[in-house]
Amino acid sequence: MAVRAAFAGSGRRSPLVQLVGVSRQIVELREEIERVARSDAKILITGESGVGKEVVAQCIHVSSQRSTTNFVVVNCAGLPETLLESELFGHVRGSFTGAYRDKPGKLEMAHEGTVFLDEIGEMTLRMQGLLLRFLETGELQKVGADGGGRVVNVRVIAATNRNLREMITQGTFREDLFYRLNVICLDVPPLRERREDIPLLVDHFLQLLTRDKGCVVRAIAADATNALARYDWPGNVRQLVNVIERMAITGRDPIATIDDLPAEVRVNGAVGFRPKHERRRTVADDLYKRLTEEHESFWSCVYTLYMDREITRGTLREVIRTGLEETRGNYRIVARLFNLEARDYKRFLNFLRKHDCQLPFKEFRR
Ligand SMILES: Nc1ncnc2c1ncn2[C@@H]1O[C@H](COP(=O)(O)OP(=O)(O)OP(=O)(O)O)[C@@H](O)[C@H]1O
Ligand SMILES: [Mg+2]
Repeated sequence: MAVRAAFAGSGRRSPLVQLVGVSRQIVELREEIERVARSDAKILITGESGVGKEVVAQCIHVSSQRSTTNFVVVNCAGLPETLLESELFGHVRGSFTGAYRDKPGKLEMAHEGTVFLDEIGEMTLRMQGLLLRFLETGELQKVGADGGGRVVNVRVIAATNRNLREMITQGTFREDLFYRLNVICLDVPPLRERREDIPLLVDHFLQLLTRDKGCVVRAIAADATNALARYDWPGNVRQLVNVIERMAITGRDPIATIDDLPAEVRVNGAVGFRPKHERRRTVADDLYKRLTEEHESFWSCVYTLYMDREITRGTLREVIRTGLEETRGNYRIVARLFNLEARDYKRFLNFLRKHDCQLPFKEFRR
């Protein structure tokens, strides 16, 4: 585990922390961040590698009342268990070879701030047990210390690109820890599902990366921007940053063209190229199929999952949006499509309104 970034917020939103994007998903995510920043509830951030999970965690911290204290990042992958335990909880002098003095753990350093536990799915079962105990008591059990230690107040945000539910089934992730961490779940969608964000992200990183006076490139030609927008980005935003950085370093003219792009992006982002999987199936797609093809009732499938916090508000909205698209914005037909009795129509609308999921029907009428 390495502590990759720890910063004390200034109380204002740091200009370095910005969730760039204009897509509906990112706009909704920003709203969700503002909402969840008001509480201290634990958050689990999910999403493929490189989508911006850490950026989301930082945004929550700087928008919260804890913004003037520390945001401490702990990467739970890649370190032997004993070192991770000491990094998280600290150790006392002499507790193992090389422990020459007492050392505070990252949880202690994050007191009154936020700790971001990245790649939580990589923790061993024993570490998961230790973390669970800490989450239940707030008490730090330092390596080599007898008895209970200091109680700290930290907000915990965890992230993973693994499917923790699958891991629970396989017995590699503790279900009780999952429910502790998953009080609020934010899912960051892959870049290929929000292509509208690509031109803006390209501009954003180009500005950042070409500030250096030695950099010749100042802008990107339209053909290159189009190829960037069509490419599938398996490595998501991180891969995009790398491509722009490479362009900025190697480009010899002020305006970079398609020839300055890596071959992979040039070929797969070309007009007419169709990737095998245009779009990954989402949870919302599966639920919609259960409703419309397997004739499950909205109450027994979507409603129950949402109330149990098994699916997010974003997923619920996606299901409703698909229904509205199918019925040209007619909620009554959506209700029928979702196998609801006529007398349940009002209850259905009330539920959507209460949870901020009643999308305006007008935009689907066209
Ligand atoms: N919406 C965004 N706006 C601005 N920068 C972004 C955005 N999304 C991602 N980035 C940038 O992309 C890079 C990868 O983001 P981040 O580290 O947050 O991804 P991640 O989901 O945590 O990845 P991993 O799963 O590999 O840890 C970072 O340089 C980050 O600053
Ligand atoms: Mg990360």
